[in-house]
Amino acid sequence: MDLVDELVQKRDLPDEGLRELLSSSDDVMAAKLFKRARETAAEHFGREIYIRALIEWSNSCRNDCYYCGIRRSNHAIERYILSEEEILQCCGQAHEDGIRTFVLQGGENPVKAGELVGIVALIKKKYPDSAVTLSLGELPAELYAALREAGADRYLLRHETATPSHYAKLHPKEMSLENRLECLHELRKLGFQTGMGMMVGSPFQTPDHLIADLRLIRSFRPEMVGLGPFVPQKDTPFGTYPAGSADLTLRLYAIIRLMLPEAGIPATTALSSIIPNGHIRGIESGANVIMPNYTPLSRGKQYVLYDNKSRQDFHKIKTELNAAGYVVNPSRGDFKTNQYHV
Ligand code: 5AD
Repeated sequence: MDLVDELVQKRDLPDEGLRELLSSSDDVMAAKLFKRARETAAEHFGREIYIRALIEWSNSCRNDCYYCGIRRSNHAIERYILSEEEILQCCGQAHEDGIRTFVLQGGENPVKAGELVGIVALIKKKYPDSAVTLSLGELPAELYAALREAGADRYLLRHETATPSHYAKLHPKEMSLENRLECLHELRKLGFQTGMGMMVGSPFQTPDHLIADLRLIRSFRPEMVGLGPFVPQKDTPFGTYPAGSADLTLRLYAIIRLMLPEAGIPATTALSSIIPNGHIRGIESGANVIMPNYTPLSRGKQYVLYDNKSRQDFHKIKTELNAAGYVVNPSRGDFKTNQYHV
């Protein structure tokens, strides 16, 4: 039995096996890994790809992560916060396109995020058939609870790296992996479908770090896993570091699909920003979600997590997916909530 078969069967591999899958130059093995991952996605989702409308709520952020273009020390961008009216307009447009999940994502701003409690309630009242996903960073537990109470269904909070010493190289000292993980546990306890994930190829990352990430993801069993390559942003301390590898990102999609067959795994914007046809490549490696962008254009231009960030248009994505033999599924598409660790 080869490594791919072993991973399919056991939903896990010893560290050495994972290392081999991540780094091997054996193209036949890599092709088999991608094939099995796509087959596994197809067993659960057929050829359907879930669509989530991404609304970049605000680029105002209290954090100063060394990799991120919206870090507070970056004075080269104009800060914005979408108004209630703008957010409802974005949701309205996505809803008209048939999309039934709205993702409100933004920098970490606990004060302003408080205003989203009322807005989430409004969205849920206006669109009771739709899910709301939030991605707003580390917030006080009471605010998470209020957002959940207001009707938010899911929360994405990437852990970025599961190795504390690596975490410390990517973030200023007031931030900690410990706190990030506490937030993830809190979110799950509150009943959010929860997403975690990391950047691939972030500065100082080693294969051991990625193995630790896989171990963490497998043990937490999030409903969603978001990962994409690191992409440099010129106005950050990591502006001259090389971008992460698309091939490694694709292998990680495949491995995570085989570890957590029913997870929601988006083919991310970062991947599409560094290779042509990133969506399809991601899907053919086991991803099953795409998040087209519904942020008002002028605002979205200021949401510069990294340079050359591509803007994903729903209609274009739909055409591409159809041409590759996939169909879009714009329904809420909830992921099976894992009761295991609750
Ligand atoms: N390259 C790739 N991804 C990035 N993110 C932030 N900055 C970058 C970058 N330079 C990702 C982080 C964060 C998410 C919102 O965007 O993983 O969690």
